Amino acid sequence: MRFKPEERFLGRNCTACGICSSLCPVDAIVTDSSGRVVSFSSACIGCGHCGCYCPADCYGLPAEKHAAIPLGSHIQNLYEGRRSTRRFSEKQIDETVMSTLLEAVGFAPTGQNAQGITVDVILGEAAINKLIVRPFVKFVRILDCCRILSLFAGANRGAVKKIRRGDDIITWKAPCILLFRAPVGNVTGKTDSIIAATMVSIKADTMGLGTLWNGVVQIASPILRVKRCHAALCVGYPLLKKYQCVPAREWTRRDITPS
Ligand SMILES: Cc1cc2nc3c(=O)[nH]c(=O)nc-3n(C[C@H](O)[C@H](O)[C@H](O)COP(=O)(O)O)c2cc1C
Ligand code: SF4
Ligand code: SF4
Repeated sequence: MRFKPEERFLGRNCTACGICSSLCPVDAIVTDSSGRVVSFSSACIGCGHCGCYCPADCYGLPAEKHAAIPLGSHIQNLYEGRRSTRRFSEKQIDETVMSTLLEAVGFAPTGQNAQGITVDVILGEAAINKLIVRPFVKFVRILDCCRILSLFAGANRGAVKKIRRGDDIITWKAPCILLFRAPVGNVTGKTDSIIAATMVSIKADTMGLGTLWNGVVQIASPILRVKRCHAALCVGYPLLKKYQCVPAREWTRRDITPS
């Protein structure tokens, strides 16, 4: 079931705290002059973040049941509680925590057991800005110099405007970026990298860290000051408490039998 905030929203509970609109990845939440949420634009991708993080339960979602120790039968709770993190605390990730997190990579399967995944670790605001954010913003500003990008951006015009003026909605001020890649020539290199990144992102949740899969950084990697990668994760300590879970995403099971 695709989450549609406009179908559930209980406006009378809204306290105008601003959390939901600060988290919306596509700037789809419309507020009135007092900050109360009034509607949602067609840019909405149905991620459910507004609902998960709303302290006033304005979106009618079931309560969060993320187990503290998500082992064994708790694994489904871990998956259900996994959310992209877009607000990070200022706490940095120390070396012990980073090494423990990345141990997962050494146990990730690779096609033909080719191994050899490389994880580039970019730590700290200064390095992330220099290598990723500033080159990306510069690229967007060039593309949008005559507002051409904005013209074709449709409902994402607001996001282009934010990037142009330098708001970090690319790496969301994460304290760490991880870039995964496999050696050129590995036949399943892309898949191998994504599996390794998935294992890291799930392990991160068990360590109290939050992650954000970052398609923008991954796709833009050839024009940034980093090496081309197959998967990019923002990592850091989440700033906000999650209150609710999203409903299950749309997917299909097909049982195939030979005719
Ligand atoms: C491959 C991939 C690329 C993504 N790229 C971005 C991105 O560039 N920026 C962003 O804010 N979110 C990005 N996301 C996060 C998705 O928007 C998010 O997973 C989706 O809205 C569902 O929310 P959830 O992760 O909290 O369940 C990406 C997710 C995936 C799987
Ligand atoms: S998070 Fe909830 S209470 Fe806060 S502005 Fe959004 S809808 Fe209103
Ligand atoms: S569901 Fe996601 S994209 Fe839609 S309004 Fe809420 S936070 Fe924004």
